[in-house]
Amino acid sequence: GEETAAGGDEMSEGDDLITIGFSQVGAESGWRAANTQSIQDTLTEENGFSLSFSDAQQKQENQIQAIRSYISQGVDVIAFSPVVETGWDPVLQEAQSAGIPVILTDRAVDSEDDSLYESFIGSDFVLEGEMAGEWAVEQYDGEGYTMVELQGTTGSAPAIDRKEGFAAAIEGSDIEVVDSQTGNFTRTEGKQVMEGFLQKYDDIDLVFAHNDDMGLGAIEAIEAAGMVPGEDIKIITIDAVKDGMQALADGKINYIVECNPLLGPDLAEIAQKVIAGEPVEKRIVVEDLAFDQEAAIEALPDRQY
Ligand code: AHR
Repeated sequence: GEETAAGGDEMSEGDDLITIGFSQVGAESGWRAANTQSIQDTLTEENGFSLSFSDAQQKQENQIQAIRSYISQGVDVIAFSPVVETGWDPVLQEAQSAGIPVILTDRAVDSEDDSLYESFIGSDFVLEGEMAGEWAVEQYDGEGYTMVELQGTTGSAPAIDRKEGFAAAIEGSDIEVVDSQTGNFTRTEGKQVMEGFLQKYDDIDLVFAHNDDMGLGAIEAIEAAGMVPGEDIKIITIDAVKDGMQALADGKINYIVECNPLLGPDLAEIAQKVIAGEPVEKRIVVEDLAFDQEAAIEALPDRQY
């Protein structure tokens, strides 16, 4: 922390820790659990941090409240993964007025004013959608496939961007998207929405789910309807967490584009630099791989999350 009149020069050991308030989206998915773990494992006292962590349960108002409380506590740095893209300017301006730097992880805000945050660390979600769509076209164009989409949380950067990237990649192919609804990135809602799709359409060939968990929910719905996921209905997802990779290895999912959740180390490094007054990059793009069944079988044994 900064030296204060009360702290004086005689700072105890604890005083050198960087205090950081982190507002997490929630605990909606396997990806999120791995992301939380990475942040909590990295922003430790051993590494020079004192972390206050809060879970917003996928609600923007909870995140705004958490950020306000970090501002009033006077933390050194605020970091958060915004549940939705819009509506952040007022609270970010409050942080700026209080002189507290903000670092975005995982998800972007759509603010015009990029001076409201120091850096944004995370994957390129449009590219993830494109990679998924390109593979769909490579494999299935010419088959006249009927597709349904399970979208992530409405208004979130990954839902908006993955939808856009996928749609751009399949444009001009004969894959027809007949429906697209949100399953809020959870397994339960993915299953429910897929059940609805299966009742409404009797000719679904392909599912694009914006994350593994919703794809895993869709698998349950497809199996309950007496069909074979990965065969009767093909499935493409994003994340590549262990459960998703296992389903891919088992042939129940056909392709997964990775979204790397291990953002803790980059966040720690950027926070240290910001506090030291060193320049940081505004945008740090995390690289993602993609897996088919064979690649999943190979990667699974060493998979960290
Ligand atoms: O923002 C990243 C997305 O959020 C992940 O792909 C999804 O699983 C999580 O809920």
